[in-house]
Order: sequence, then structure tokens, then C-alpha cells
Amino acid sequence: MQTGTSTIGVVGAGAMGSGIAQLAAQAGHTVVLVDQNESALERSAAALAKVAERLVEKGKWSAADSERIQSAIDRAMAIEKLAACDWVIEAIVEDLGLKQSLFQSLETIVAPDVVLATNTSSLSVTTIAGKLQQPERFMGLHFFNPAPLMALVEVVPALQTNAAHVDRAKAMMDAWGKSPVVTKDTPGFIVNRVARPFYGEALRIFEEGLATRETIDAAMRDAGFRMGPFELMDLIGNDVNYAVSCTIFEAFYNDPRYRPSLIQKQHVDAGWLGRKSGKGYYTYGEGQTPQTANNASIDTKQFNWIVERIVAMLINEAADACYLNIASPADLETAMTRGVNYPKGLLAWCNEWGARATLNILESLQIRYGDDRYRPSPVLRDLAAQKTSFSL
Ligand code: NAI
Repeated sequence: MQTGTSTIGVVGAGAMGSGIAQLAAQAGHTVVLVDQNESALERSAAALAKVAERLVEKGKWSAADSERIQSAIDRAMAIEKLAACDWVIEAIVEDLGLKQSLFQSLETIVAPDVVLATNTSSLSVTTIAGKLQQPERFMGLHFFNPAPLMALVEVVPALQTNAAHVDRAKAMMDAWGKSPVVTKDTPGFIVNRVARPFYGEALRIFEEGLATRETIDAAMRDAGFRMGPFELMDLIGNDVNYAVSCTIFEAFYNDPRYRPSLIQKQHVDAGWLGRKSGKGYYTYGEGQTPQTANNASIDTKQFNWIVERIVAMLINEAADACYLNIASPADLETAMTRGVNYPKGLLAWCNEWGARATLNILESLQIRYGDDRYRPSPVLRDLAAQKTSFSL
């Protein structure tokens, strides 16, 4: 267990805020967790007590750890309680106006050298910073759910952020045992942007009737992914996944590469949200085995083209993110392997296939569909022409 000396403020005691507060307490910090809703604070404390009990039973925490971590978190409803904090991390609802007004209030409460961070997953960090008196001390710290378990944290400087704060944030995330990656403030940051084709291309193949959901899932699992696209969408929630797809599509001014699928919308409209509603792409009735478990019979030829098509689109996104300096090649690889557990980094995958072979897949899709969705990243053309690969 680490020993952080500073006091961390967390606003929002929902799933994310509670996890972040736990992490900070585990790292040795004193934590002030604020929520305007008292019952959210009570639920958060009860959930942590349950986690602590389980971890003590499993021998992962000592009884003293459990006591120390739980008592390190002070809970309150008034944001004034954050006055003595050294950092404040916000995890309230995903609403631009609410987040901006919260940070405007926080600026009047905390000291001028306190760093303020948002855990937003889809809003522009720069837009939130735009309303602040001291935007240079503001940034995104994007944790993944569940925060105590997921290694990745995307550190997102706004256009206005002072670079020294980015270094401090990275050092703090390292001290918390996380794998921080730095990403530009663009829609979806790294993971939610680069992963879009995992769902989008699978939906397109399914929509065209070229393969069943079961076959697509089985093919992707066979390629090393822990879950296929349809079972994963059911786990995430089709409403959540569709909302992220729409946000990113709109934020990129309707770039066809990110166009959501009508199938997603219909599933949401029908209330087929996935595991949480008992039905999504698969059925999860009590005692019922989802069809996904009955592995589709292996047809190597079919598996190969499904994987080629989806992975080529994923590589294209990662290559473009690299080309546009959204993140360093190393951080792009870390983000996809540690944030969403891809079997390997997408740039390494490209090197394995060769830029020319990846380009061939994308170009043949572009010719077949006549669609800008499949336009290859310029960096793939450069690498293919120079017969080189990504340096990793
Ligand atoms: P949640 O709905 O579970 O919790 C939000 C909490 O904020 C609630 O307890 C609510 O009472 C409180 N709250 C709302 N407005 C407040 C205010 N003005 N002052 C104090 N408390 C306030 O939400 P969740 O899922 O924890 O998400 C929080 C943030 O984290 C969102 O921005 C979300 O986009 C982001 N995020 C969520 C992930 C997820 O998988 N749930 C993953 C990564 C980021």
C-alpha cells in the first residue's frame, strides 16, 4: 500500500466517484467525497464496506488496511468541505452545464494552486475549461469502470492546461498503481475513439447478413479478444454504447467512419439494452445460457475475413490517431491493451500484417462500398510506400 500525503477531493459518489475515492484512500491519501445526494453517500460507504469485507476474506487486505482505507474517506454533501484539498476530481453526471457550474463554484472554494480534474468520458475538457478563471489548472482524468480494477487512466490536458500539471497527474497515477496515458482532448480520447470499429464494423457485417452475431463473436474471440462485439455491447449496455457512438459521430462533424448503426438504435428503442434488461443481441433469461456460449462452428475462411475486416478498421483508427498526434505510439498501445484488454496493440498488429496488407483490406472495402468510411489513414500509405513499419 502506498502513502500519498495530499488530500484528494472527489465530487460525485456514484460508480466512478466511489471507485476513485477508494483508489485514493488505498494509495494513502485522505479523501473528501462529496455528493449532493445523501443516499448516494450512504450507498457508496456500504459498497466500500462490502468490498473491504470480501478483500479481507480473500487475504488481499489486512483488517488494518480495511479500517485505514474506510476511515480515510470523509463524506459530505457540501462542496465547501473540499476547501483544504490539494486535488479535486469530479465524477458527477455527464452534463456539460452541470460540470461547468460545479467547477466555477469549486474555483471560489479551493486554493489557486489546486488542480481540478474531470472524469468525463465524452465531453470536451477544453470546453469545460473555457468557463474557468484559471483554465491552466484544469484537465481530464478519465478512469475506467470499475476504477479500482482497471489499470488505464487517460490523462487529458485541455488546450489551456499547464504542462507541469500533466506531469504531476501522471506521477500521481503511477503512484496509485495505474497505467496513465496522455491523450489530446479529441472526441472519445483514445479508447472510445479507437475502439469504435469493434462495434461499428461488426454491426455492419451483421446488418448485411454476411455473418450471424454468434459467428462474428466467435471469430473475434478466436482472434484473441476476450469477448465478441455483440456480447460486449450487451455487457456495456446498448443504450450506453449507442450514446457514445452518437456523441463521437456528431463531435466529428458526421464523419462516416463513426456513423452509428440503425440496429443499435432499434435495440435501444425496443428496450433490448443487453444483460441489464435480460435481452439484447442475446437473451439472458434466468437459468438460460446465452446463445453466444454455443460457439459457432469454426469456418476458418469466414473467421479470417471477419477478423481482417474488423481489425483492419481498428488498425486504421489507431494509425490515424498516431498520425494526428492524439497520443504517442506507446500510449496508444497501452491504452488498447490495458484499457480494453485487446490481445495486442493495434500498431504492433499492423506491423505483423504489414502496412501494405492492411492497406489492401481497407482499399478493397473502399472500392466495394464506395464509402469514405473505409478511407485509409495517410500514415498507412506512407509506411506501405516506404516498406517500413511503426517504430514501437
Ligand atoms: P452516477 O450516476 O453513478 O453518479 C453520479 C453521482 O453524482 C450521483 O451520485 C449524483 O448524486 C452526483 N451528483 C450529480 N450532480 C452533482 C453535483 N452537482 N454535486 C455533487 N454531486 C452530484 O455516474 P457515474 O457512472 O459514476 O459517472 C460519473 C462520471 O464519470 C460521468 O461523467 C461519466 O461519464 C464518467 N464515466 C463513467 C464511466 C462508467 O462506466 N460509468 C466510465 C468512465 C467515466
